[in-house]
Amino acid sequence: MRVPFDIERDFFLPMKTEFNRILLKFSGEALLGDQEYGIDPKVLRFIAEEVKAVFELGVSVGLVVGGGNIFRGVQASEAGIDRVSGDHMGMLATLMNAIALQNMLESIDVPTRLQSAIRMAEIAEPFIRRKAIRHLEKGRVVIFGAGTGNPYFTTDTAASLRAIEVEADVILKGTRVDGIYDSDPEKNADAVKYDTISFSEVYEKGLNVMDLTAFTLCNENKLPIVVFDMNTPGNLIQVVKGKEEIGTLVEF
Ligand code: GTP
Repeated sequence: MRVPFDIERDFFLPMKTEFNRILLKFSGEALLGDQEYGIDPKVLRFIAEEVKAVFELGVSVGLVVGGGNIFRGVQASEAGIDRVSGDHMGMLATLMNAIALQNMLESIDVPTRLQSAIRMAEIAEPFIRRKAIRHLEKGRVVIFGAGTGNPYFTTDTAASLRAIEVEADVILKGTRVDGIYDSDPEKNADAVKYDTISFSEVYEKGLNVMDLTAFTLCNENKLPIVVFDMNTPGNLIQVVKGKEEIGTLVEF
């Protein structure tokens, strides 16, 4: 493993992109690959390479990852563990994924900083908003672990909150579906995909983009959302460049 390092951001020629600062969120399940549990190193490497490609365009990148590949809330209730404790376990799971992601990114020469919403100073920096912004300005990918640090909030909400706090231009939600449809494309072959949709239409039609807390946070703070298929190589960079056919843009 290489020693983490720093590079000067202006080493790269900044290219014209639709978004200059992004917050990419993906679920812990995305890291499963073909496994039933844990982290598939091939998937981890793939995601790190996708992030590196946008980072090299000069885009400032924040990352939030879920923890469902390691621990799911439903497991907690089945085991008789209460909601708050289960959420604490889920937040720790996100931090495990975040550490893995940090290592993989640094192994391919992407400088990173990891900040945790739950203090555990031996492992990660605490989340400090102004420090996170400074890291982004210095050209480090910042990974935000441990959700919001509070039970009852999803990682989507953590991602929305961090995106707003670091003044990202957009939140990119990487999923296994290629956007938002008028009905579930995995159940209805005639489902129609939206290239763009407004926040009010999503509310009116009752579409499931993120949980309502996360979605409302974005709406109230004028933060656009792009939902896209993160499993297709090159999609992330195309979204950042503003290619409209990829994913669905939720806008105002
Ligand atoms: P600049 O001040 O902009 O140079 O940022 P920096 O992150 O390089 O400086 P700092 O000296 O704060 O951090 C050096 C390294 O220690 C980085 O990898 C940080 O992520 C890490 N670090 C800083 N604070 C903590 C902490 O509280 N806990 C842990 N585990 N690591 C920390």
